Amino acid sequence: MGPMPTSFVLDAAARAALFTDARSNTHFDDQPVDVETIREVWELVKWGPTGNNTVPMRLAIAQSDEARAAVIDNALPGNRPKLERAPLLLVAARDERFHDSIPSLGGSESAAARLDEDPVRRERMSHTGTMLQAGYFIIGLRAAGLAVRPYGGFDKAGMDAALLSGTSWRSEVLFGVGYPHPEDHGAGERQGRMSADQAVTVL
Ligand SMILES: Cc1cc2nc3c(=O)[nH]c(=O)nc-3n(C[C@H](O)[C@H](O)[C@H](O)COP(=O)(O)O)c2cc1C
Repeated sequence: MGPMPTSFVLDAAARAALFTDARSNTHFDDQPVDVETIREVWELVKWGPTGNNTVPMRLAIAQSDEARAAVIDNALPGNRPKLERAPLLLVAARDERFHDSIPSLGGSESAAARLDEDPVRRERMSHTGTMLQAGYFIIGLRAAGLAVRPYGGFDKAGMDAALLSGTSWRSEVLFGVGYPHPEDHGAGERQGRMSADQAVTVL
């Protein structure tokens, strides 16, 4: 008997919207993105798992002209024109004091106290958890019919000084978000991915 055919819980159209047809767009429709939509995406993707339920990602929405300009100014020059074309810019940050929230999220006071004394571990955990949540967030934006390009190419210290000073938030990745341009995603030819034959092993 051969393997069972996989029955996805999402239909082919949903799988295309989330993965196979979705691109890292640099061209967008003119339609603005409502901040409330971003908040609704957050409320969905907040349920994705993180280590010890640390949920360290925070999100700054650069809605004002000043905040938007600061994001673009602190990006690498090659990223600036692409960011300028995105109707809404977001800064995903890790909260280096994420452990302060552990007890209120149902975790233990002692876990929070241990982390309070271990900034190196906190940095590693908050980075890992934030990048994981950033992945959930990308898929959530796509589920809301939005297109997004993530950006790691920016001056993190400069971004933090311009937008996040006086907070425990440290920028990790930018998102240029908008509704997809009807004709051109602007992401060029699709690059390859590793197939299961290449990247998956059964031990
Ligand atoms: C963490 C991260 C950092 C990235 N940094 C940049 C960047 O600085 N500039 C840029 O143009 N694209 C950046 N990208 C976009 C990737 O190049 C793009 O997502 C990838 O090539 C896949 O493209 P596709 O979704 O269109 O197939 C980044 C993507 C991720 C996930």
